[in-house]
Amino acid sequence: MEMALDFHTAKALLEWQIELGADEAIGEAPVDRYAAPKVEPAVAAAAAAPAPQQAAAAPVMAAPQGPDPVAQARALAQAARTLDELREALAGFDHCDLKKGARNLVFADGNPRARVMVIGEAPGRDEDMQGKPFVGRAGQLLDRMFAAIGLDRASPDTESALYITNVLPWRPPQNRDPKPEEVAMMLPFLERHVELADPDVLVLMGNHSCQALLGRKGITRLRGHWAEALGKPALPMFHPAYLLRNPHAKREAWHDLLMLQARLRGAA
Ligand code: URA
Repeated sequence: MEMALDFHTAKALLEWQIELGADEAIGEAPVDRYAAPKVEPAVAAAAAAPAPQQAAAAPVMAAPQGPDPVAQARALAQAARTLDELREALAGFDHCDLKKGARNLVFADGNPRARVMVIGEAPGRDEDMQGKPFVGRAGQLLDRMFAAIGLDRASPDTESALYITNVLPWRPPQNRDPKPEEVAMMLPFLERHVELADPDVLVLMGNHSCQALLGRKGITRLRGHWAEALGKPALPMFHPAYLLRNPHAKREAWHDLLMLQARLRGAA
């Protein structure tokens, strides 16, 4: 039976075969790899002798230097003058392997003129299918949470609107955690995203968002305190996926939503 493999599974299978030695040349004579190597005394002595001058002078091959993906990301992101241009720049950025395994680019949703910009971690399955952030179960909870303080991603009114994006724009395979090199590559785009949308405040959803933008994890301690990220006031909050697994933490989340509301009203 023919099986369709996605990019990440196919890559993992190839790496596994290479680890097993599938890419090594097959010799004519069988090799007993369990037999201890027999070293002739003369060969052993030659091996122990200092290397001749000539060998030391042999030219060293420089390791192939690829383009620096972070520098490329920065240049592309900085060149974008609008959010549409930024989305196009991201769509054309081919250095992140996550893109190959994803169905869709997940750029943002909501009203880009909103005062509040929510930054999540990465798209999951539903987001990957729809090309929009926070549309699965966690996203539905996120919508209800913000609705409780009068904010809505569908609102055309800046005051009551919400703008939503993620640290990573492509779904990691099996929803695994983002890798530091993936975050480093995507950070220049996120920085430019915040610059162009220019919200009044950021809400950092969960540990990975805090790690990327504050350089710190530990959401239990970080939440409920205003921090600063990319020159904006930033409020770390429990991720709605965490709240689905730990409903008792909704009390703290409600506290944080009220902090956000007070800030928006100019009272905090
Ligand atoms: N979790 C996130 O962090 N972002 C999404 O878009 C969906 C789930």
